Amino acid sequence: MLIFLVTSALAWLSSIWHPQKHTCDRLTVHRIPGVHILSIETQERHNYSFPAVPSLNPTDVHDLDFCDVTVTLTHPGGDDFVTVSIWLPLTDWNGRFQATGGGGLAAGYIGPAQAAAVNQGYVAASTDGGLTLNGTINPQTGAWALRPDGSLNTALLKNYAHRSIHDMTVIGKALTQSFYGTPPKFSYWNGCSTGGRQGYFAAALYPEHFDGILAGAPAINLPHLYSYLFWAPVLMINSVTPPQCVFHAFQKATIDACDPLDGAIDGLISYYDPETCDFGPETLIGETIECSELDSNITITSEHANLVDQIIQGPHIADGRRLWYGLAPGASFRGTADTITTNESTTPNPFFPSIGWTKNFVFQDSDYDVLSMDFEDFDTAALLSIARYTDILGSEGHYLYDFQYTGGKLLSWHGLADDIIPSSGTIQYRDRIEEDIEDLDEVDEFYRLFLAPGVGHCGGGYGPTPTDPFGALVRWVEEGVPPETLGAAGVNGDGEVVTRELCRYPLVLVYDGDGDVNDAGSFSCEYPEEVV
Ligand SMILES: *[C@@H]1O[C@H](CO)[C@@H](O)[C@H](O)[C@H]1NC(C)=O
Ligand SMILES: *[C@@H]1O[C@H](CO)[C@@H](O)[C@H](O)[C@H]1NC(C)=O
Ligand SMILES: *[C@@H]1O[C@H](CO)[C@@H](O)[C@H](O)[C@H]1NC(C)=O
Ligand SMILES: *[C@@H]1O[C@H](CO)[C@@H](O)[C@H](O)[C@H]1NC(C)=O
Repeated sequence: MLIFLVTSALAWLSSIWHPQKHTCDRLTVHRIPGVHILSIETQERHNYSFPAVPSLNPTDVHDLDFCDVTVTLTHPGGDDFVTVSIWLPLTDWNGRFQATGGGGLAAGYIGPAQAAAVNQGYVAASTDGGLTLNGTINPQTGAWALRPDGSLNTALLKNYAHRSIHDMTVIGKALTQSFYGTPPKFSYWNGCSTGGRQGYFAAALYPEHFDGILAGAPAINLPHLYSYLFWAPVLMINSVTPPQCVFHAFQKATIDACDPLDGAIDGLISYYDPETCDFGPETLIGETIECSELDSNITITSEHANLVDQIIQGPHIADGRRLWYGLAPGASFRGTADTITTNESTTPNPFFPSIGWTKNFVFQDSDYDVLSMDFEDFDTAALLSIARYTDILGSEGHYLYDFQYTGGKLLSWHGLADDIIPSSGTIQYRDRIEEDIEDLDEVDEFYRLFLAPGVGHCGGGYGPTPTDPFGALVRWVEEGVPPETLGAAGVNGDGEVVTRELCRYPLVLVYDGDGDVNDAGSFSCEYPEEVV
C-alpha cells in the first residue's frame, strides 16, 4: 500500500514536471463484454507522412507525431480476427475522438482516414472489422463472406453491419483515457458510402457513442441498392454494351434538357421534378457522335436509347415490381454501367464490390459467373439479396429517438449526381424519420440532410462539393450552431470556380434571376412548392 502511494505520488509529481509528455507503452483497455482482446501493440511515430488519398485524406499530411496503437481481438464463438487501429497525437491533442468509416465491402481504412484526423489534432480510430482476414485479402472481393466450408461467416457479417463501429469506439475511448488520463470531451463519426451507412447505423444502434455523426452518401439500403448496382450490367449483357462515349452523349443531353428548369443555366440540375424534366432518351436516336474509345464515330441506336431509359427507370423484376430507384438524371453512367472498350469490342465492367456481393453473399458461390446473368438470374439475385440481408443490413427497422434524446447530431449529405448510390434512398430515410417524429422542426434539431447538385459519389462529379462538412458538424455539436446551409465549391467545365450554399432538405436552391450563376450569393433556399 505504502509503495503504491509512493509510486502514485511520484507519478503525479512527474506529470507536473512533464505535463506534455505522454508515454506510449503500458496502455490498457479494461474488459469489454463480448470482446476478447488478443494483443495491444504500441509504437511511437514521429515526423510521419501520409500521401493524399482522394475523399479520405485529400492532401498530403506531414510531420505527424502520434502513438500508434494496434489492438487485435476476437469475439468468442465467432472465430474472427479483428484489427483496430487507434492513433493518439503525442502533442496538441484537441480533446476529441474521431472514428472513421469504410467503403464498399470494407469496414474501414487503417491509415489514410486517420492521418487527416490526427493532422487536425483528433484521436483517430479505424478498423478492418476482421474483413481482411488478417491482411490476406482485399475486403472488396467479398471473399470474407464465406467460411472455407462455404457457409456464411455470420461473425464477419455482424462486424461489417455494425459491431466493428462499437468495438473501435469503445477501445478508442478507453485508450484515450489511458493515454491522456481523461476521456474525450467530444466524440465523432466520419464516413461516406459504407462509412455513411455505418454513421446511420451508429445513430440508430449505438446512440450514446457519438456526439456528432457525419454521414455522406450512405449505403443505408444495401440489400435493395444491390439490385440497382447490377441492373445496368444485366441489361447490357442481354442487349447492347456501348462504349462510354454513348453514355456521355445521353448524360450531356439530360443535363442540357433539365438544367434550365431550376431557373439558372449553370450546367447543374439543382432541382429535379420528373413532371417537368421529361428528357426522352429516344430523342438521340440516329445522332452520330465522335467516340474516343472507338477512334471513330458512332450512331445512337434505339437499343442504346432503350438501355438508357431502363437504367434511369431503375431495376424491376419480371412481374413488374420495381425494386429500387434508377440512375439520377445528369449522373455519370460510370458507377453502374461502366464498360471497357478494347479493339472495337466493348464489355461490361460492373462495380467491383457488387461482383463480390453477387457471388459470395447472394449465391454463396465464389465461382459464380456474373457476366453470364440473364434476367431470370437477376430476379433471383435481387430478391435473394433483399430476403437474406435486409434484417442485418437494411435500415427499415431503425429509429433515431434515442439518438435525438441523448442530444446527438447527424449531419448527412448526398450528391444529386451520385452514380453509385442514388440520393433518393437517403431522402426516403429522412422522409420516414420525419413521418415518424411528425415534426419537421424537431427533426431538424438533430438530423439535417444536404443535397449537392452535380456531385458524384462522396465527391467528384461536376458540381461544387461540400468544403468542410465536418467543421459544420463540430460547430453544431460544440457551439450549438446548426448548419443552415453547407458551403460548397468546385470548378466547372470552363475552369471557373463555382460556389454554392447547399440547402438542407427539403429546401432547394433557387436562382435570383440575374446574379452570377457561379456565385453562391445568386441563389437562395426555398421550399420546392414555392418554386415556380
Ligand atoms: C522531426 O523533424 C524535425 C525537423 O524537420 C527534426 O528537428 C526532428 O529531429 C525530427 N524528429 C525525429 C524524431 O526524427
Ligand atoms: C496475423 O498475421 C500476422 C502477420 O502476418 C501473424 O504474425 C499472425 O500470426 C497472424 N495471426 C493470426 C491469428 O492468423
Ligand atoms: C465524325 O463526325 C464529325 C461530326 O460530328 C465529322 O466532322 C467527322 O468527319 C466524322 N469522322 C469520321 C471518321 O467519320
Ligand atoms: C488488339 O489488336 C491488336 C492488333 O490486331 C493486337 O496486337 C492486340 O493484342 C489486341 N489487343 C487486345 C486486348 O485484344
